[in-house]
Amino acid sequence: MKVAVYPGSFDPITNGHIDILNKTSKLFDKIIVSVVHNVTKNALFSLEERVEMIKESTNHMDNIEVDSFNGLLSNYLQEKQAIAIIRGLRTVSDFEYEMHMSMMNKMLIPEVDTIFIMSDSKNIYVSSSGIKEAALLGGDISSLVPKAVNMRLGEKIKKND
Ligand code: PNS
Repeated sequence: MKVAVYPGSFDPITNGHIDILNKTSKLFDKIIVSVVHNVTKNALFSLEERVEMIKESTNHMDNIEVDSFNGLLSNYLQEKQAIAIIRGLRTVSDFEYEMHMSMMNKMLIPEVDTIFIMSDSKNIYVSSSGIKEAALLGGDISSLVPKAVNMRLGEKIKKND
């Protein structure tokens, strides 16, 4: 079975991430979307909320599993017997960060390659951080995120008021 891991912060998952999953789910038998336990990044949503939103947003795809991981991605890939890491690319500015990360992972686990997929042009400017900022300042971001995320963002904003 060809398993790929799509790792990330997913704070929260966006239509850009869903676009990448729609394209790559055709290439692998199973994709594990895995949320990193990141203690240094100041996340808006808890790990559990992020996992839940991904589950709700991907339930139309039958070969997607949702999980989380702690520590090195390379160890997690080995544990899951994954053959590839999936990452989305939007602009050239994404490239440098992604290239360093893929090289580091290649050194740590040479048998796994990173597969980069370009976002659709309509998603080029879609980022979790931009969405959070716009939503918290009252902007309508409903066209950029799955329904489940839009609802939860609304709830967070109400709580913050
Ligand atoms: O969505 P993000 O925040 O750009 O995702 C980054 C992520 C989670 C893929 C990256 O930070 C990661 O793999 N973290 C785990 C730690 C690790 O393995 N580091 C070594 C490779 S750079």
